[in-house]
Amino acid sequence: MEDEATPPVHQMAAATLTDGSDSPVQWAQFSRRVLIRTIVCRPDGGVGLSGQKVTVGGWVKTGREQGKGSFAFLELNDGSCPANLQVIVDSSVTPLGQLVPTGTCVFVEGELKKPPEGTKQNVELRVEKVLEIGPVDPSKYPLPKTKLTLEFLRDYVHLRPRTNTISAVARIRNALAYATHTFFQKHGFLYVHTPIITTSDCEGAGEMFQVTTLLSDAEKAEKELKQNPPPSEADIEAAKLLVNEKGEAVAQLKSAKAKKEEITASVAELTKAKENLSKLEERSKLKPGIPQKDGKIDYSHDFFARQAFLTVSGQLQVETFACALSSVYTFGPTFRAEHSHTSRHLAEFWMVEPEIAFADLEDDMNCAEAYVRFLCQWLLDNCLDDMQFMVKNFDKTAIDRLKMVSSTPFERISYTEAVKLLENVTEKKFENKVEWGIDLASEHERYLTEVIFKKPVIVYNYPKGIKAFYMKLNDDLKTVAAMDVLVPKVGELIGGSQREERYEVIEKRILEMGLPLEPYEWYLDLRRYGTVKHCGFGLGFERMILFATGIDNIRDVIPFPRFPGRADL
Ligand code: 4AD
Ligand code: MG
Repeated sequence: MEDEATPPVHQMAAATLTDGSDSPVQWAQFSRRVLIRTIVCRPDGGVGLSGQKVTVGGWVKTGREQGKGSFAFLELNDGSCPANLQVIVDSSVTPLGQLVPTGTCVFVEGELKKPPEGTKQNVELRVEKVLEIGPVDPSKYPLPKTKLTLEFLRDYVHLRPRTNTISAVARIRNALAYATHTFFQKHGFLYVHTPIITTSDCEGAGEMFQVTTLLSDAEKAEKELKQNPPPSEADIEAAKLLVNEKGEAVAQLKSAKAKKEEITASVAELTKAKENLSKLEERSKLKPGIPQKDGKIDYSHDFFARQAFLTVSGQLQVETFACALSSVYTFGPTFRAEHSHTSRHLAEFWMVEPEIAFADLEDDMNCAEAYVRFLCQWLLDNCLDDMQFMVKNFDKTAIDRLKMVSSTPFERISYTEAVKLLENVTEKKFENKVEWGIDLASEHERYLTEVIFKKPVIVYNYPKGIKAFYMKLNDDLKTVAAMDVLVPKVGELIGGSQREERYEVIEKRILEMGLPLEPYEWYLDLRRYGTVKHCGFGLGFERMILFATGIDNIRDVIPFPRFPGRADL
């Protein structure tokens, strides 16, 4: 690879390389090539780079031989942007047949040229040398050029990043993650990593995946016992006897002041006998099945010596940092064992959860609104080409929606007002009955945001009976200071609340909901010692991507979807 056409490493480290013209080619810092984005996404479409030598790598989107096989056109994409670079290879450079199949990886060098008048490209690459090829057998490649449905692609999660849609989603997802950190860092929030394995159920909804080694331990024990039956009591007694004998032998030699070598040899025999005994004792403890005590599973034998789960939310843990460092956020994977086969639910999804001390429900709503609007503006500023792709292929209104949300204040209504509005709806029959006290269903949420207000709506002060124990009880003693942000296309995007900071009230709420106090003692400590008014919320990251892109199914906006019955790779 180190030849005259590949710039030497020290030159590439300088990131830009000029060859005398005034438009420098930008070399990637950590791979020996020029990113296609830095060519085709320039304001001039790359024309200003014509005449310059570059090396590019990528995967062939479409390739075709032309001029009776004398040259080939390749549309090359390296994932740095949605656009492809047109590449032309002469048959004198390399056999063309192996270059043209869709999915082929090529790494080539050549000269950028302005194509003949009348072509849609601003610049194309004339290949002088093919450096590397990762071939594809087109008769076997599972993702041919034809348009494939997103559902079909879910069977190829390992190859689907090569498609235009999944790569655009990946760039949008990346941009939203970057925007998230930018927003919170800009406002003085500290990023806290909360645990993935937890022993407390934040939402109290009992939808947790259990983390246990009891099953694999039981399987291991079963297998081992089959291969090697456990020692009998007589075997253990015999081994104990041997340890005693060897011990006595050592004692005798010592008292007889025997030679050092003799004593050492005898001690070694004793050690061996002891090791053998402990192995037998260990094996005698092996029992098939799950350990039980008083008719229940005995978790004291489990890895953590107690029941443990995958987290459903980092909120409770991040509160410990909010109650010390004031403004914090966590952003990580969360897990819910809900058996809902909807286009809005995943078993593993990512959540952004800020937590703010010295703040109430109104501050919480202000923060949620500012954050969502910031995300929308960020995509307009940084991902317009990918958003245009979404408009063309999935949702004509996607860019307009981002513009509307980034520039429009959200509607704010109480739950009671929301129910009244929904009760008065006559033009539509809801599947789920509307009355004060119900948990709003997705159809209700979407009606409020899509039909009644046609913009994001924050619904606040929900009945306490349908919300989690940690939410602040309002003075009416009937509602809690909760808020949900509802957006068109998706429904619930954010769930949050002011937290109950009064010790007596929260203790009562936990008991009222039939939850045990013991696992929440540490959480109660935050109220016992230096309690502070605080609030926070959780934004479902994939829901945000659905909202932004207009894609219909949440399984297509996470790299590796997990849902009932499926966890590929
Ligand atoms: O409303 P949720 O359950 O709120 C909490 O977990 C709070 N502890 C957050 C907090 O206050 N720190 O979940 C928050 C958001 C929802 O609004 C929704 O967008 C998303 O997480 N969400 C899901 N996304 C995908 N798949 C699922 N199964 C989801 N469940 C919730
Ligand atoms: Mg919720």
